[in-house]
Amino acid sequence: MSGSFRRLRTALSFAGLAQWLSVPALTAMAAMLTRDDDAAARAQALGGTLVLMLLPVLLLAPLAGLLAARVDRRLMLMIADVLRLVIVVTVPLVGLLAWTLAAAFLVSFVSLLWVAAARASLSALAPDEEARAARTATRAVYGPAPVAAVLFAVLALVADGTLGRGSRADLALYVTAGIFLVSTTAIAMIREIPATGTAALPAPLKLLFQGPGTAAARGLGLAIAGASLTAGAVVAVARVHTAALGGGDAGYGAVLAGLAFGLGFGVFLGPRVLVPFSRRRLLGLAVIAAALALVVLALVHNLVVVVFMTAFLGVFAGASWSTARAAVTDPDAPEDARPAAYLRSVALVTAVVAFIAVPLIAGALGPHRIELGDGVYDFEGSSAGLLIAAAVALVCGLPGYRRLDDRRGVPLVPDLRAALRGEVYTRPEAAAAAPQQAHRERGVFIAFEGGEGAGKTTQARLAAIWLRDHGYDVITTHEPGATKIGMRLRAMLLDRDTTGLSDRAETLLYAADRADHIANVIRPAMDRGAIVVSDRYVDSSLAYQGFGRQQPVEDIARVNAWATGGLVPDLTVLLEIPPQAGLRRLPAPADRMESEPQEFHERVRAGFRALAEADPGRYLVLDASRPQGELSREIQYRIREILPDPVPAGTEDATSTFPAIRDF
Ligand code: TYD
Repeated sequence: MSGSFRRLRTALSFAGLAQWLSVPALTAMAAMLTRDDDAAARAQALGGTLVLMLLPVLLLAPLAGLLAARVDRRLMLMIADVLRLVIVVTVPLVGLLAWTLAAAFLVSFVSLLWVAAARASLSALAPDEEARAARTATRAVYGPAPVAAVLFAVLALVADGTLGRGSRADLALYVTAGIFLVSTTAIAMIREIPATGTAALPAPLKLLFQGPGTAAARGLGLAIAGASLTAGAVVAVARVHTAALGGGDAGYGAVLAGLAFGLGFGVFLGPRVLVPFSRRRLLGLAVIAAALALVVLALVHNLVVVVFMTAFLGVFAGASWSTARAAVTDPDAPEDARPAAYLRSVALVTAVVAFIAVPLIAGALGPHRIELGDGVYDFEGSSAGLLIAAAVALVCGLPGYRRLDDRRGVPLVPDLRAALRGEVYTRPEAAAAAPQQAHRERGVFIAFEGGEGAGKTTQARLAAIWLRDHGYDVITTHEPGATKIGMRLRAMLLDRDTTGLSDRAETLLYAADRADHIANVIRPAMDRGAIVVSDRYVDSSLAYQGFGRQQPVEDIARVNAWATGGLVPDLTVLLEIPPQAGLRRLPAPADRMESEPQEFHERVRAGFRALAEADPGRYLVLDASRPQGELSREIQYRIREILPDPVPAGTEDATSTFPAIRDF
């Protein structure tokens, strides 16, 4: 990683921090300016501030992308920081609600210009690592959110103790401006940012109307709407709700911090938790859990409980997000791949709806006092707004769960309990009927094989994307090195510094990697009925260690049969290419296997061919020099033959074990 890349990342994180800090700072300002108004007016002023912050993202993103592309990127980053600084500083100086609202809109619009320039600058500084640059940009933009929330809470506490009633919200705004100043100074010192280039920003509304491109994403959209509604509702009324509980700005900051940390943790957790458990079930459950957390936080009038419940809600909403996203995109796909961008649009639009509707409902209903036997229960308007949002989220979540459920007929609690033990639940009668029925419970296994530079990684990815588009649950993986242990084995195997490794040891290390891969990745996925697409498998060992290293192929087959428990792919796609042509396609420097002599690679190629000829039913052999599009089409035709028909949810138990999503 280059030094300038790192410094840019740091500078961008500062700007990101200021951008996030401006959100509670501006809403707090709006709250302060309306402190003498009635509850309805306050709720609407706060909701309005939030809506105005989201509107540019919703409506003006493409325009911002175009504008940003016309200006020198480094200049754009600095202009954006200075503009935001000026706008933010003037808010407490002017002290008018109208200017506060306008500032919310303007800061958010300028932030869009900044995001476009930031994305483009990072990818320009790491031209070979498009995906990593995009990830870094996303982290720099979203990562500081929890820190900003905590910082806001601390600033609110300080302001409470030191500033008068009429200027309590000022401090956070001044600090925001100060951080923008730090960021712009940092950018000024990074001279290497290349001048031009574009970074297109997607247009959320257009994406929403165009639809997701796949039936699967449309189904997931419903669940994401539910999750986003719960989080949006909390943000929408957090300030008035915490005020009613005696929390003030510090309480508001604490709630936002709870939400931001929860979301971040949930996003991280989503793909990692309960791996044997159906992802679609998990998604539905997470949305329902988020809605239930919302019910609790609406009803319990205690700030600490509210903060914790908000954090739980965040975890569930975040997990829903990452689970849904993983279900429609390849982990290596660009950030703005269409189905993922569609889900983001759904989340965004739902949040805007929540920001508009929940404060309106809260304001319209107002506070009520309910007599309960001896005591009274004060029911805030915000609680009512939150409860209604929770009900709507449940309406999205429950049918979402039922529609998404790919394990119908399998009782939920034992299924969850088994997943907690790291196993997949099988019904007792199914277990009794095993083993001849066992295959019906498992997914499909497709391996891609070939020599160096044959393009199997690309084709494996394209096949996975195509399968996901058809609603299948797909795992893409590779050998060697798909697991933690595997990565260490991979380093030993492929590092050119590894010298003197005997052929047998090499064979066993590859087999060890494979055994770990099967146990921790392939088996769990197959057991839950997913399609596993692996870049390389046993045939690589037979070809490289057997034919290439000229060891007895039967021995290697035996070792591998033991390591894999006899798991054989349903289909092996062999991409054929003369070694010279393949090696030419690779960027230098070569790894330990690639640097083997030409004859070695010739033998590997002949080995792969011999394996395919010996079992033609299981192989699809393709000439890798053909155009990529043609190859993927042929691969798709062949995969189609081995797939069970996508089964619409709702058919009887026995057939619904294969995950598929109905178009609705
Ligand atoms: P990798 O970087 O994954 O390359 P590729 O894109 O070609 O798959 O490296 C894997 C290397 O390990 C490759 O040179 C083939 C070799 N290999 C074996 O020799 N035996 C095996 O069993 C496997 C899985 C890979």
